[in-house]
Parts: sequence; structure tokens; C-alpha cells
Amino acid sequence: MGGYKIKALASTDKLGKFTETTYDAPPLKDDEVYIEIEACGVCHTDMIYMQQPNSVLGHEPIGRVKELGKGVTKFKVGDLVGFSYLRDACLECRQCISGQDVMCEKRVMFPEGGNNGFAEGVVCKSGFVYAVPEGLSAEEAAPLMCAGVTVFTALYQAKLPPTAHVAVVGIGGLGHLALQFARAWGFHVTAISHSPNKKEECLKFGAHEFLSSKDFEKTEYKGRKFDLILDTVSVDLPWDSYLDLLDRNGSFFLIGLPNGPIEIKQIIPFLQSQRVFKGSILGGRYMVELMLEFAARHQIKPAIVNFPFSVEGLEKAVEESEANKLRYRAVLTRN
Ligand SMILES: NC(=O)c1ccc[n+]([C@@H]2O[C@H](COP(=O)([O-])OP(=O)(O)OC[C@H]3O[C@@H](n4cnc5c(N)ncnc54)[C@H](OP(=O)(O)O)[C@@H]3O)[C@@H](O)[C@H]2O)c1
Ligand SMILES: [Zn+2]
Ligand SMILES: [Zn+2]
Repeated sequence: MGGYKIKALASTDKLGKFTETTYDAPPLKDDEVYIEIEACGVCHTDMIYMQQPNSVLGHEPIGRVKELGKGVTKFKVGDLVGFSYLRDACLECRQCISGQDVMCEKRVMFPEGGNNGFAEGVVCKSGFVYAVPEGLSAEEAAPLMCAGVTVFTALYQAKLPPTAHVAVVGIGGLGHLALQFARAWGFHVTAISHSPNKKEECLKFGAHEFLSSKDFEKTEYKGRKFDLILDTVSVDLPWDSYLDLLDRNGSFFLIGLPNGPIEIKQIIPFLQSQRVFKGSILGGRYMVELMLEFAARHQIKPAIVNFPFSVEGLEKAVEESEANKLRYRAVLTRN
């Protein structure tokens, strides 16, 4: 088996502009597979890394297995598969052997390696590739590989009973999936959004209630007590106001990346109510497997907007995403 010349879309020194490129991938190692990519979601995290020119980004790809390394028994040619943010781990350290491969000191995560999803194909270590369950198309499965597993992992790690009240802040790619996962989990679900026109859709995704963050100081917030708030917004928030919405022992999970440092001013209530402020990243292999099974069981599917798998398609997807126009996840597709 020879190596591969892989056509891909790379960032340029002009923000939001891309160009076609080609890179060489060596022949498959025994534990690798070559995947021909059919669809790839566009995540807000791609926007952060596109500031570096010549990067091939994209971490929500789904495609068909085209070739197998000699030692791969898990897949056959033609299987519909995807990969996620975590591309490799040592598999030997304590984090790895306890199922926390995503915390491995030697982990390889997007965008390391540059062999990412905005491309016609990719060589991957087969242990970090996942079969798409029946009933999900390539474009429907794509956003689950980052957005889906990120919010699923947060809910899983919160270890809350189904009686809990959960709020999701920011209803975009991650947020609209978080509403669906949280509802299927059995929680009381509240969407908090700065876009009032998303209300009807939020209720359809499973929110019991919709609160506008534009009216944050208004009475509809009085007396609210959430056990968990998932923040999927990529800007600074009035942190103390959100922390005040937590019940005693409640947790605020920071998933979105704010633009600057975070300051918590009200320390006494933070301490005396035992509030938790926790960073939360997506999950490793175990989480992806559980998430896919759970999503298939509960018919959780992203609301997607298709764009052509081309320079123009990617530029338009980024533009609409930055303008908060998308309902709710851009996916590059081949057909
Ligand atoms: N921790 C992780 O592992 C992880 C994984 C993936 C992504 N992320 C991060 O999570 C965040 C969300 O990603 P995404 O792909 O879901 O992004 P997205 O689709 O753009 O959604 C973000 C949402 O935030 C809200 N928002 C945007 N601009 C805002 C503003 N100026 N003020 C208030 N709210 C605003 C909007 O929701 P409303 O209109 O409803 O207010 C928007 O839909 C990003 O920061 C991304 O980098 C983290
Ligand atoms: Zn992502
Ligand atoms: Zn390890």
C-alpha cells in the first residue's frame, strides 16, 4: 500500500478565507485506517484555530472506511465511521487505564498533526475511530463528534439525578444538542439565550422553559435555582449573576471560551453555597461510544445547515456561524 496525497481546505493569513491544499500522508500502519470523508461539521473552535494560516481544521468528520491497516479487525471497508477531537493517547498511564484517555499527558488532540476533517480523506488510528449507529446519516452524525460528545460528557460528569434542574446558556451548535441530551436524561431543562427568536425551536429541542439573557435582571429570573448550568457561549458573561442562579452545591460548567479573564467578585456566596465553577472539555473514547448509543436510542439529531465541501462552502459556513445566523450547525457535505 502506497501513501496518500490528500486534498484539503487550509486556512490562510486572511481570517475566514481558505484555500485548497494537498498534503502527503505515509502508508497505513497496522493499526490505522484510511477514511474518505463525506461530511464535516464546522465548530466554533475551528474559528479559534483558523487564526493560524495553513491549518487544515475540522474535527466533526464522518466518512467511509476505504482501506484497513493489517491489524485492524474492528472495521471493514465501507463502514460509516467518524473521529473526534482526541486522536491518540498513550493507553498506559493511569488516566488512560482508568478510562480518562482524554486527560492523558501524552494525548494528541485537534488540531495537532494537521490531518483533520476539512479534507477529502484522513489516516486515523483505528482505536480512535467510531462506528456511526444505524439511523444516522453522515451529516447528522458529524456534529455529534464534537458538539454532541462535549455536552454529553458534561451531563455525564455532573452525576445528577433526573430530578435536577439544568440550564443551557447559548443555543448554538453545542447548546441545541445539550437541550436534547438533557431532556432525554430526564432533567428539567431551561434554555437561556440572547436570541428571543430561538424560543419556539428551543422548546422543540426539549427545553421546558426559555429565558432571555437580554432580560437577565428581570423578575423571571427571581427564585431560579439550577443544579447545573452549562455555558456554551464564546463571550464573557456576567459571571456573578449566573453563579447566583445556582442552587446550593450547584455547578457552573464552562464549556465555551470567553474572550478574557474571568472574575468572580462575590466570594462569600460562592464559598458559603459551595458553588462549583468547572472547566469541561469533550470526552474520550468511552464517552463517544456511550454518547452515540444514547443519541441513537433517543433519536437525538442535530439541526443542520448544509454547505458544499469547498472553499466557498467553508467560507460561507464560517461567515454565517460568526453572524449567529445558523440554525444550528453548519455541515460541509460532498453532494
Ligand atoms: N469545552 C469543549 O470541549 C468545547 C468543545 C466544542 C466547542 N467549545 C466551545 O464552545 C463554544 C460554543 O461552540 P458552538 O460551536 O456551539 O458555537 P455557536 O454555534 O456559535 O454557538 C454559540 C452560541 O453562543 C451564543 N452567543 C454568541 N455570541 C454571543 C454574544 N455576543 N453574546 C451572548 N451570547 C452569544 C449564541 O446563542 P444564543 O443566540 O442562544 O444566545 C450562539 O448560538 C465555543 O466557544 C467553542 O469554542 C468547547
Ligand atoms: Zn468542536
Ligand atoms: Zn495516557
